[in-house]
Amino acid sequence: MSGIINWTILEEAVASYRLDRSEMRNTAQRFQQEMDLALAGKNSSLKMLPSFLAAPSGHERGNYTAIDLGGSNLRVMQIELLGQGQYRIIKQISRSLQDPQGGYDYTAPEINGQQIFGFIAEMTAKVMEGAESQGLGFTFSYPMNQQKVDSGRLIRWTKEFNPRDTIGRDVADMLSRALWLKGIEIRPSAIINDTAAVFLAGCYQDSSVCAGSICGTGHNTCVLDPHSLVGARCQPMIVNMEAGNFSRLPLNCWDRILNQDTEDPGQQIMEKMVSGKYLGELLRITLRETGEKGVWSGYDRELRIWTQPYSVDTRVLGWLYSDQVVNKELLDHWMELNGIPLSEENHQMITRWGRAIIQRAIKLLAASYMAVIKHSRQFNQPGWVIAVDGALFKYLPGFMSGIEDILQEEFPPQTVGLTYIDDGSSVGAAVAAALTK
Ligand code: BGC
Repeated sequence: MSGIINWTILEEAVASYRLDRSEMRNTAQRFQQEMDLALAGKNSSLKMLPSFLAAPSGHERGNYTAIDLGGSNLRVMQIELLGQGQYRIIKQISRSLQDPQGGYDYTAPEINGQQIFGFIAEMTAKVMEGAESQGLGFTFSYPMNQQKVDSGRLIRWTKEFNPRDTIGRDVADMLSRALWLKGIEIRPSAIINDTAAVFLAGCYQDSSVCAGSICGTGHNTCVLDPHSLVGARCQPMIVNMEAGNFSRLPLNCWDRILNQDTEDPGQQIMEKMVSGKYLGELLRITLRETGEKGVWSGYDRELRIWTQPYSVDTRVLGWLYSDQVVNKELLDHWMELNGIPLSEENHQMITRWGRAIIQRAIKLLAASYMAVIKHSRQFNQPGWVIAVDGALFKYLPGFMSGIEDILQEEFPPQTVGLTYIDDGSSVGAAVAAALTK
């Protein structure tokens, strides 16, 4: 033991987040087994939900309205697809689902379906005013069962979001009715998962894209499956895996505590280990539990940070993962604000745990992408690219490159990669509307 921290316990905690190369490969194998089981209609933690959409050609054109309901934000855009993978955003509105200053919180437990869809319709009406729209695409970032491309029944909410009176209902019906109440008579021609949207937006620009993945508030991946075919067109279909629900993973004691206190214990296990909604919470729980055990001194259980779930933003982990001085200063300021005594040792402790949490997330995502690429190798092409979107890829330094480095080591040189797609969830909705026109 040195100073005020029990370094042995700290190291044990870091080790409990570690995933070595062989464990990572085993995880990839288990992920692939779950994909195969789900595709064969057998019991699996993955879902392989059909989207009824195939890959775009890249030549799609026209003016479309795109709605993107994510885990933290609502975006509505009027987009012109110009062909050759090009597009232009004509108009857009973006709103957080939670705005204390604006006096609303659509993530609150008392919110019902009518209210959330009313909010979506209100923003859509603003964007559509005066616009010439050839169709409406709706990116809905939650699991749904689809029998066709323009309707989908909500299976359940995720990401600690849970508007009432909505489960089992058709998302297109709820949206169309809310739009009708605002005087707009339009039905979405495509309802898609955000991973499918990122895939479509990626593939619109680059035909070697074989999958789409999100790591933002939530996590998920879709894949172009060679065996699931789109109707008479007999083209491979985009399949939403609901990868965030992958559960054959080793949990440590803090993962278990986090999971127990969520809206959906036992579900979305992978998501709870890799996505923006949960990584800050995992750090908070690790610090709180070790503080309770006296591993580090200066812990005061009455402080808001320890009593208030989700009070550690995943952005904090971003500061820890980078060596820039400015980030050290941000972390110091954050520690001070939250009543964590500023000392070199506390600083080191938070940094070690934060980094361990991120490194594990990088390896778990890389493992799932290894499985996806192996599945996609059934398409004989020179390379396989996964289109990605979401705050972790965009803002967390070293996150995307960390995954890419692992993939480069696991596959022949120059054959695999990730590509970040800006506005993927919205552009993909426009491409989907164009495909179904
Ligand atoms: C949802 C997925 C979604 C992902 C990313 C998860 O919580 O279940 O449908 O694709 O978040 O937004």
